[in-house]
Amino acid sequence: MFRCGRPGQEGTVTQKHAREGWLQGPTIDCVPPTNGDASPRPWRMVLLGAPGVGKGTQAELLAGRTGACHLSTGDVFRAAKLLPACERTPALNAALEASKAGHLASDAVVLELVAERMGCLRCRGGFLLDGFPRTVVQAEALEELLVGEALAIDVVLSYELPLGTIVARLGGRRTCADCKMVYHTQTKPSRLADRCDSCGGALVQRDDDRPEAVTVRMAEYQTSTAPLCDFYRRRGLLVTMSAEGTPDEIYQRTVEALKTRDSAAEPSSTP
Ligand code: AP5
Ligand code: MG
Repeated sequence: MFRCGRPGQEGTVTQKHAREGWLQGPTIDCVPPTNGDASPRPWRMVLLGAPGVGKGTQAELLAGRTGACHLSTGDVFRAAKLLPACERTPALNAALEASKAGHLASDAVVLELVAERMGCLRCRGGFLLDGFPRTVVQAEALEELLVGEALAIDVVLSYELPLGTIVARLGGRRTCADCKMVYHTQTKPSRLADRCDSCGGALVQRDDDRPEAVTVRMAEYQTSTAPLCDFYRRRGLLVTMSAEGTPDEIYQRTVEALKTRDSAAEPSSTP
């Protein structure tokens, strides 16, 4: 069994889709995701886009198709929030407070969390980075980390959506408190109203989906994250696309964009 974070153990990949190594830290073993349709080579992708545009939703769909691991720094912060306070450093506590209000965590904290999880970036299944990098400083640091591992990003997908639709997506989002499955009150309701279809856990609204935090998040996005489009465009990695429509429609659009990009470069490796 290949274990993320354990260099030198690149062996058999199992069918189980788990992200324990990413969510809980490098001391936890993690089995990278894969399935029967997994792409013949690992895909290493970054998903960009404003809060609520649907990055996490697309990342899950793409992970199923490519076998790459869905790595969200927001998920790492939400998992850290559940730790006993004594297990969190003051810097991590400050990051969680900032995040609750809609601000970005400091680059130093984010980069430390990512560096600790370097094994997940080395994973032979590839990766889908969601919510990282989020500043030019983070993007430069990621570039350096990957160069050190002789790895490279294949593509950066940037999803675009009008503000009104984004606000509606964030306002209706509900997340299972236990298994973290994401729902939407209008577009993806659970069968059991306030309970998760998958595990029966309570569905809750994220702290940072309150309207006042959403306003701060959108401003942070414009100031700190939107410049990353230029950063990756200059490197020839950026593919922008509309995030309007159903998750399946956007997913199909994404797959077509990847095929087009891939056929120009390496015809046999389309996801
Ligand atoms: P993070 O968790 O990354 O949040 P985000 O970027 O604000 O994005 P969201 O997760 O809110 O939205 P999403 O695009 O994933 O949309 P989703 O698929 O859920 O970060 C949270 C916080 O952590 C940050 O604010 C920051 O404080 C901190 N942080 C994290 N990373 C950091 C970093 N690198 N540096 C500094 N700070 C960092 O979809 C939204 C809703 O819409 C769902 O209900 C979904 O079901 C629904 N939906 C999705 N697609 C569709 C569709 N096509 N049609 C209809 N409904 C849809
Ligand atoms: Mg998300």
